[in-house]
Amino acid sequence: MCGIIGVIGHNKVSSLLIEGLKRLEYRGYDSAGIATLLNGKIDRRRSLGKIENLKRLLKKSPIKGNVGIGHTRWATHGIPSKTNAHPHSSGDVAVVHNGIIENYDELRKKLEKKKFIFESDTDTEVIAHLISYYLKKNLSPLKATITALKKVEGAFALGIIFSGINNYLICAKRGSPLAIGKGKNCNYIGSDSIALAPLTQKLCYLNEGDIAEITSKDFRVYNQNGKRVKRSITTTSLAKNKIKMGGYNHFMEKEIFEQPAVIGDALKYFIDTKKKKLLIPSFAKKIKKIKEIYIAACGTSYHASLIGKYWLEKYANIKTEVDIASEFRYRNIINIKNSLGIFLSQSGETADTLAVLRYFNQQKGKTLGIINSAESSIARESNNVMETHAGPEIGVASTKAFTTQLVALGALTLFMANFNKTMGRNEINKLSNALVEAPGQISKILKMDNIFHKIATNIKNAKNVLYIGRGTNYPVALEGALKLKEISYIHAEGYPAGEIKHGPIALVEKGVPVIVIAPSDQLIDKTISNVEELLSRGAKIIFISDKKGIKKINNKKITTICLPESHEIISPILYSIPVQLIAYHTAVLKGTDVD
Ligand code: BG6
Repeated sequence: MCGIIGVIGHNKVSSLLIEGLKRLEYRGYDSAGIATLLNGKIDRRRSLGKIENLKRLLKKSPIKGNVGIGHTRWATHGIPSKTNAHPHSSGDVAVVHNGIIENYDELRKKLEKKKFIFESDTDTEVIAHLISYYLKKNLSPLKATITALKKVEGAFALGIIFSGINNYLICAKRGSPLAIGKGKNCNYIGSDSIALAPLTQKLCYLNEGDIAEITSKDFRVYNQNGKRVKRSITTTSLAKNKIKMGGYNHFMEKEIFEQPAVIGDALKYFIDTKKKKLLIPSFAKKIKKIKEIYIAACGTSYHASLIGKYWLEKYANIKTEVDIASEFRYRNIINIKNSLGIFLSQSGETADTLAVLRYFNQQKGKTLGIINSAESSIARESNNVMETHAGPEIGVASTKAFTTQLVALGALTLFMANFNKTMGRNEINKLSNALVEAPGQISKILKMDNIFHKIATNIKNAKNVLYIGRGTNYPVALEGALKLKEISYIHAEGYPAGEIKHGPIALVEKGVPVIVIAPSDQLIDKTISNVEELLSRGAKIIFISDKKGIKKINNKKITTICLPESHEIISPILYSIPVQLIAYHTAVLKGTDVD
C-alpha cells in the first residue's frame, strides 16, 4: 500500500521525509521518492526498491529546501520502476498520490491531445498534468487543484507542491486517508498517524472531498467547491516511542512475542480480570436487540471474522454472515435496517471495508467498527466502535492484530450471550476465565519456538504447503497459509479438512507438507480420518494438537507438536501462534523480506 508524508517549514526537510517514509515501510512498497522546493524550484529524487536506495541516491545527490513531499509506491498502474515512482511532476507542479484514478485513461487521452507528454504509466501523472493545465490558464494553485479534482473519478489522498511558491503546500482527500499534522512553525501531512507520530501529536483528519492549503504557520481547509470549512484538531494517542524494534530482529518477531502482554492489556477493556467479570461497554447495550449480523472484512481480518461467526452463532445464537468486503458490494442484503454491520479492520482504512460501512450507513443499518486504529476512517464513520488495543502493528504480516481481534470478538460474543440469555452466568464466567488464561498459555507456546524453527527448516524448500482444520480451526488454517504466502513466497492453501478429498487431494504428492490444526475438540476424530487420507498419498504431516489429541494419532511418520490443553474458545488464539512462527522462521531461513 502506498504512503504519503509531507513537511513544510523545516530546514531539514529531506531527512524528515526519509524518516517518515521509513515509518511507512510497514505498509509495503516497491519504490520511493521525494520532491522538495528550494528558492522556488522543485527538485526530486526517486528510486526503485528499498528506501536505503533512495538514501544512497540522496547522499550522492542531495536535495535541500524547507517544503517537501515523499511517497512509498506499491505498483498498481505501471510496473515498479524509477519512472513510475512518485512524486510525478508537470510544469510547476509535483504530486504524490495514494488511491486509484478510475477515469485516468480518458483524462490521459484528452491531455495528450493538448500536447502534454506522459513519462510514466501511472494514473497519478494525469493529476499533475491536469493541475498544470489549469495553472497555465492563470488559475491560482487552489483554484487549479479544485477544478482539476472535479474532473477526476476515483480515490485519492494527495500532496502537491508548486514551483515559485515557497511556503505553500496543498493536500486533498477523497476515499484515501490523509491527516494534517500541526507543529510549531512547521506543519506536516501524512497518510497515517504512525508516519506523523514522532513529529507532532496534533492531527487534523480531513473529511471526504476536503482540500487544504498549508503554510509553515497555518492551514486552511475547503470543501470540494472551494468553500472554507472548519475541521477540528485532535491529539493522537499514539506515543512516539512505541514504534521501536526493541532487540528483536524484525517487527514481525517482536509483535508475535509481545502477544501475551498485548492480549493481557486488551482483555482488561472487556473483562475485569481479577473478578473475572464482563465489563459491558455502553455501545453493547445499543445493539443488544440485534437478531442478524453481517461482518465485512479483508485478509487476516476476514479470517478473524470467520471465527467470530462460529462464536456468535454457537454461544449467542445470532445469525451471522461473513463476507470478504470487496464481494459484499455485489450482494443484495434484504434487511439492513434491522441488522448490525460489523466492520473488522486492523488499520480502519481498508477501502473495500470502508465502502461497505458507508453503504450500511446510507441504508440506515446499525454499524460497529472493530478496529485497532482508533483514529481511522472506519472508527470515525461507525455508529459504534470497539477497539482491539493491539498498539501499532508495523510488520506487514498481521499477528497481534489478529489475536486481539479474536479477543474482541470473543468478548462481543459473551456480551451478546449475556443479553440474549443463551448462556447462564456460570457458563459465561467459564468462558471469560478461559479468555483470561490466554496470555499465560501463549507464553508457554512461545517458549517452544525452537520446535517451530525446526518445522520451518523442513518446509523452507517446499513448493506447496497445505494447512487444514475444522470448525474454528479452519480459519486458523487459512491464516497460516496466508502468513506463509505473504512473507516467504511459498504457495500455500488453507482448506477445511473435510473438503480436501473433494479435489485438492489430487495435488498432494509424496513429501507435500500438510500442517494440521487439530486441538482435541469434538471434531478431532474426523480430522484424523482426513489425515489418514493424506498419509496414503505420501503427505508429510505436521500435526499440531494437545496431549489428548496426540494420543489418538499413532503413526511414527507424523511430526507432532504438543500445545497446552485449553478451552475451545481460546484454541484459535493459541493455535495461531505456531502458524505465525512457522511462517516467520521460514521467511527468515529463505532470506525474504519479513517486515
Ligand atoms: C491487506 C493486508 O492489504 O489488508 C492484510 O495485506 C490485511 O495483511 C488486510 O489483513 C486487511 O487489513 P485491515 O487493516 O483492514 O485489517
